[in-house]
Amino acid sequence: MNNRDEMAGETGAKPSEVSEAPGETKASSAVNNRPSVRSDVALMAGYHSPQIDVEVRLNTNEAPVAPPAELGQRLAALVRELDWNRYPDRDAGELRAKIAAGYRGQNGGLTASHVFAANGSNEVLQTLLLAYGGPGRTALTFEPTYALHSHLAKITGTAVLQGERRDDFTLDVDQAVALVGEHQPHVVFLCSPNNPTGMIDPPDSVPRMLDAVTDYGGLLVVDEAYGQFAPRSAVELVDDDRPLVVTRTFSKTWSMAALRLGYALAPTWLVDELDKVVLPYHLDALTQASGSLALDYREAMEARVAQLVGERERLSQGLADLPVQVWPSSANFILFRPERAAGVEVWQQLVDRSVLVRNCASWPRLEGCLRVTVGTPEENDRFLAALADIVAP
Ligand SMILES: Cc1ncc(COP(=O)(O)O)c(C=O)c1O
Repeated sequence: MNNRDEMAGETGAKPSEVSEAPGETKASSAVNNRPSVRSDVALMAGYHSPQIDVEVRLNTNEAPVAPPAELGQRLAALVRELDWNRYPDRDAGELRAKIAAGYRGQNGGLTASHVFAANGSNEVLQTLLLAYGGPGRTALTFEPTYALHSHLAKITGTAVLQGERRDDFTLDVDQAVALVGEHQPHVVFLCSPNNPTGMIDPPDSVPRMLDAVTDYGGLLVVDEAYGQFAPRSAVELVDDDRPLVVTRTFSKTWSMAALRLGYALAPTWLVDELDKVVLPYHLDALTQASGSLALDYREAMEARVAQLVGERERLSQGLADLPVQVWPSSANFILFRPERAAGVEVWQQLVDRSVLVRNCASWPRLEGCLRVTVGTPEENDRFLAALADIVAP
């Protein structure tokens, strides 16, 4: 794996443009009689994070530690007891009820019918776009943000309109609301805390964007993959009267990225539409049961989040002491830009020291930037020492 591979995987659409799916070629134009792929897909780069064998992996915002040992033991017992010859519960009823119950303190109105669960929040986002995007429809993002929002929109044939964040990556809510009113996109994405900047949007952003989309019948999707690390959330606003979806994941806080489980909290009428387009039995029995079990360990999860938030502040301080620009983070990762060396070179030198961070250096508006996931105290120390060695020897 080299730098070119790292960069080749990134999607890099130009900001502030509407991309339409180009017209199809005739099937007969296929080379060597191979079937021709959709012409818009042919132009796409896949989305991949490099998986490099290093000692310190801080590139994909996973939890740094395994789930509690007792959960592992219960999972092992569960594997033995599953009805492997039967299809899983198509409705994932127990899991959805348990997810909803977990939000009782934040939003007492949520029930199993307000929850849509899928294989990672990426599948939730894709299902949302299959149902509410598609040919002739538009999705709006505010860049720089999570590349999968645009990528999945394009895959589902949805045109993408890319708005911009300010130079400091904060969201200009007045401008965002004006853009929504002007273009009336079918789906509007916010991401808070935002990946890859780590920043949380202003408190009035969700209520004001909700008003704006409600005016013309649009849908607001707030991606809260990192919501548990942040001081505020849009979860409390989810109900049947608002066109609002909040997406969350087990991949970060719940130490279960390997499981592939994410979910949406949404109005019941919207969950019904998602159920129509998702594949039958898409969520396997093991994932459902494992997710349900994990929810028994909420206290352990909350303790881990508190620990990671503490480490995030220590890491931010450590970065601030080095010649790098650092952005404030409400997530479990931090965006930074080396001031005296090219980001891509620093990335490679970190890899040479067996430390892997995310190379954002070639992403639009993130020239020279790198993103580091908050790891264990030991991993964070390894990262800071390696970085200091490179940028401030
Ligand atoms: C903002 C954001 N949303 C969604 C996801 C997808 O998470 P998963 O599919 O693992 O639930 C990620 C993963 O990094 C993310 O950063």
